[in-house]
Amino acid sequence: MKSLKVGICGLGTVASGVINVIKRNQHEISARAGCQVDVVHVGSRSLKNNCDMTGIAFTTNLMDVIDNPEVDVVAELIGGYDLAKEIVCSAIRNGKHVVTANKALIAEHGNEIFALAAEHNVIVAYEAGVAGGIPIIKALREGLAGNKINWLAGIINGTGNFILTEMKDKGRDFADVLEEAQALGYAEADPTFDVEGIDAAHKLAILASVAFGVPLQFEKTFTEGISKISTLDVNNAEELGYRIKHLGIARRQKNGFELRVHPTLIPEHQLIAKVDGVMNSVLVDGDAVGQTLYYGAGAGSEATASAVIADLVDVARVVNSKSEEFVPYLGFSAEKLQALPVIPIEEIISAYYLRVTAEDHPGVLAEVASILSDLGINIESVMQKESEQENNTIPLVLLTHEVQEKQINLAIEKIEALGTTIGNVVRIRVEHFN
Ligand code: HSE
Repeated sequence: MKSLKVGICGLGTVASGVINVIKRNQHEISARAGCQVDVVHVGSRSLKNNCDMTGIAFTTNLMDVIDNPEVDVVAELIGGYDLAKEIVCSAIRNGKHVVTANKALIAEHGNEIFALAAEHNVIVAYEAGVAGGIPIIKALREGLAGNKINWLAGIINGTGNFILTEMKDKGRDFADVLEEAQALGYAEADPTFDVEGIDAAHKLAILASVAFGVPLQFEKTFTEGISKISTLDVNNAEELGYRIKHLGIARRQKNGFELRVHPTLIPEHQLIAKVDGVMNSVLVDGDAVGQTLYYGAGAGSEATASAVIADLVDVARVVNSKSEEFVPYLGFSAEKLQALPVIPIEEIISAYYLRVTAEDHPGVLAEVASILSDLGINIESVMQKESEQENNTIPLVLLTHEVQEKQINLAIEKIEALGTTIGNVVRIRVEHFN
């Protein structure tokens, strides 16, 4: 093969990064791919870009790229659902390999897309969809192929991590930091995907499938975002020796696997607790290797382009070797995927941080403690903050030992029904990774 001809749909932050890096690192990329990798055609609604388009055909009709007989592989870099799905499926039907950075598309329609790709014997690669520049799909699918993966936990949304870090370090306001993340190009087109955990849930669903060999099940992911995390909780966690991170957790259990995204208290001595700003990190526990930790930029133009180009190089290698075989889409042969159930959130076992706002008078702490003890919930520590003079209320902060979520739900219900507590109890799950 003289060269791998790439058609790109989209000309935003990631596409511009891909074009720039391919031009800049042409020598390394072609030496690795075994042939030249050339972007020959770009389709986008607008020609506005940050890259050198010399020698690249441009169209505003994205289907021109899919129908271009010269194009071997289509890079879908527009994001979103409907149009992206149409592009990917049409490219597959045209016998073209596909590389995408679209985690929403893979998490929600991946099962169908992979089946179609298998029918047409083409590759669909999506490394750039999860944790930006970190080669985590490759690590799980290839590097850890000898392991039974027990669990993984990751900071997989850069925007959310950036917001939590700025709140902790600078006491900045949530909305103000989100605006900055949008200006820096980290946030999704709809930033509620970042702050309500949907983006992380997309990525976690993909990671869990690749880790455990199960079909994609985004719709069963328990999802809680960071929008209700206050500076007060961030500071309390710090006083208790923890950091609050927004984690995606997938854990294998005897009767299925946990699949959950939520803010989490992590002991500050854990390396993953020190991952700040827009950086992402994934901690993986394999039965043979033990724990391995992956860290890097989770968003941004060239970091994401790095993953897209790695996938293009993989495609070039397969095409050059004229092989009919390639790494299975989810790392396990399609016929070997297991029907493991996702465990309902009420059945998971975790430790908890609870913050109760209560009236400041004798016996309130005893009432709360007795609810917990009646339900068999062991308290690890209690922190009572000073009374807020204006309304004579006190924040009570409790850390519990591990207990089933169902029990904590009951306890919260009873605490909220006490005449002496005010508003809702704040509950944040705690993970120690021991
Ligand atoms: N909005 C995403 C994030 C972009 O903040 O991580 C990368 O997927």
